[in-house]
Order: sequence, then structure tokens, then C-alpha cells
Amino acid sequence: MTMVCLKDFEEYARQHLSKATWDYYAAGADECCTRDDNLQAYKRIRLRPRILRDVSMSDTRTTVLGTEISFPVGIAPTAFHCLAWHEGELATARATESLNTCYITSTYSTCSVEEICAAAPNGFRWFQLYVYRDRNLSEQLVRRVEVLGYKALVLTVDVPYTGKRRDDIRNRFKLPPHLKVKNFEGVFEETTGLDEYGVPANTLDPSISWKDVHWLQSVTRLPIIIKGILTKEDAELAVEHGVQGIIVSNHGGRQLDGGPATIDCLSEIVDAVQGRVEVYLDGGVRTGGDVLKALALGAKCVFIGRPAVWGLAYKGEQGLREVLQILKDEFCLSMALSGCRNVAEINRNLIHFSKL
Ligand code: GLV
Repeated sequence: MTMVCLKDFEEYARQHLSKATWDYYAAGADECCTRDDNLQAYKRIRLRPRILRDVSMSDTRTTVLGTEISFPVGIAPTAFHCLAWHEGELATARATESLNTCYITSTYSTCSVEEICAAAPNGFRWFQLYVYRDRNLSEQLVRRVEVLGYKALVLTVDVPYTGKRRDDIRNRFKLPPHLKVKNFEGVFEETTGLDEYGVPANTLDPSISWKDVHWLQSVTRLPIIIKGILTKEDAELAVEHGVQGIIVSNHGGRQLDGGPATIDCLSEIVDAVQGRVEVYLDGGVRTGGDVLKALALGAKCVFIGRPAVWGLAYKGEQGLREVLQILKDEFCLSMALSGCRNVAEINRNLIHFSKL
């Protein structure tokens, strides 16, 4: 099968993953309106291409928090990669190292952070973190990733409780017993059992608030990026609290159903932040044209979640490399066809606002 676009990987994954695994990754909350709107919103945006600008040379490189990546697409944190491919996150680490982009490792990985770093020692990685009821547990994870050379912490702030995902309930989805949240091994032995997803119960803390951002700052010198902001009010608070970055995210539509598509609230946040911190986005990115639109509206970089899992499901490291390469090629072509030679030339003039 010739894989031409990300949809081909989605179709492959749909046909080859077990139903429960497919449903888990595909899940949105409740009626899935927000999940689906993340994609639809891109289709409503039209571009204003410029012509005759000598696009014979294209440069897709950019930086995130000062580190160069080969193009502005990284890997969003998603759980349990061993469900998609037997090598799990080791394959993710190798693919992202080889394409030279940023891999946000999920706390809920089925390989440990030590194993992930050993698999791709030169990879550029950030670590996704929750604030747990037991702050010591969060702090222990921070210490481990600091030592391993992770370059930033990505604090997920939109999961005081897990969203209601109907198919997971119907399927009684659980991490199979042969897989573990490896980062918790040896850390959670004393605790009270597993939750409905098969991960240690009672860990997420619904009382988390801005004071916990201060707490996290007090235990680490790593930059902190807040993932899950959808309004200018919270973007302003994030800047006031001294974070280094914001990921505009609705958790792939898996948390609050009825919230906005991420591309639709990006401008509001970029305008509020006014360049004081970098703004990134995840949710619904499926083509290089989508990447171009997100950058035109002010994102420094975007992250892909489900498409990375589909790449793994197709052929592990090789499959994810193909997904990233396709996006990179499409992005490069969209840049050229709209008259941009490098990412610095991508700006809001590319967006046809009267069509929005
Ligand atoms: C975990 O964060 C999930 O959305 O399943």
C-alpha cells in the first residue's frame, strides 16, 4: 500500500488495531463535537497565497525554546504506545530523533523515561507531567527527567477528572496486564490498586490550581509549558505566573465536549500573549496546509497526537518516520505555493479573514 497522506495511516490503524485500542485512541468526550471540530475548523480557513517570490529554496527549520527542529511539528503526549506497536515509545523516540523534532513523552508511557532516552540518546524531548495528589511522586518524576536531559516540563492542566469517553466505558477499556505505566514501576507499589484504565488509582488531583504552578517552579529550573489553555484570560494568567510556553489544546477533544477547536482560539491567545511566551497548538493537524495555517495564526510549532499513534500502528519507528516526512513534505510544498521561503515569512497576511 502506498501511503500518501495521514488519512492512509488512520485507515490502516482502524483496520489493524484491536477494536478497544482503536476506540481508545479515537475517543472524544461525550458527543465528540470538539474532537471533530478540531479538524473541521481547518477546512473553514482559506489562504491568501503570494506569487512570483522565487521559492526555489525552502527552509522549514524553526526553534522551540531556543532548540532547533527540522520543521514545526512535534509529537504531542499520548499514552500507551506499546498498544500500537510492540516497541512502543522506543520507536517514537527513534523516529523523532531521526527527523530532528521534539517528542513530548507522556507520563503514561509503556516504556520508562530511562529506556526512552537510552533508545535515542540524542533526541530532543520534553516531558508531560500531571500534578499528582502525592506531590512527591510528581517531584520524583521531575528529578528523573532532569537527570536524563529532558529540556522542559509540559504540565497538563485540563484533566482534573478524566472526560467521559463512551466507547471506553462500553468496551471496559483497560491497559492489558502485560503492559505497565513503566514510569510508575517501583513508585506505586504501596497504593490502592488501579483505576478503570488500569493505571494507578487516585493519582490525579482535582484541586490543582495556579499555586501548583508555583510549587512546580519551586522544585525545578526546567522551563514549564502549560498544556490545555483555550482562553485569553488563562493565557494572561499563565504569563503572569511566569511560565515559558503555552500549548493551546483541548486534549484532542477528549475532555470538555463543547469547547472550541484549537485553531479557532489560537489568535485570541496569541494576541493576549503578545510574544511574551511561545504559543504552540495541538489538535486536528492532519496536513502540511494545517501546519501552515496554525503558524500563520501565530503558533510557533504544532504537535500531532493520534497521527503519531497511527504511524506506530503501521510500522513502528519506520511508520512514524513516514508520517512525519509526509507532513514535512506537505508543509514545505504549502509554504512554497503560498510564497513563503522560510517560517519567518509565514504571518497573518496569509489568512483570508473574510472567509472565517
Ligand atoms: C490521557 O490523557 C487520555 O486522554 O487518554
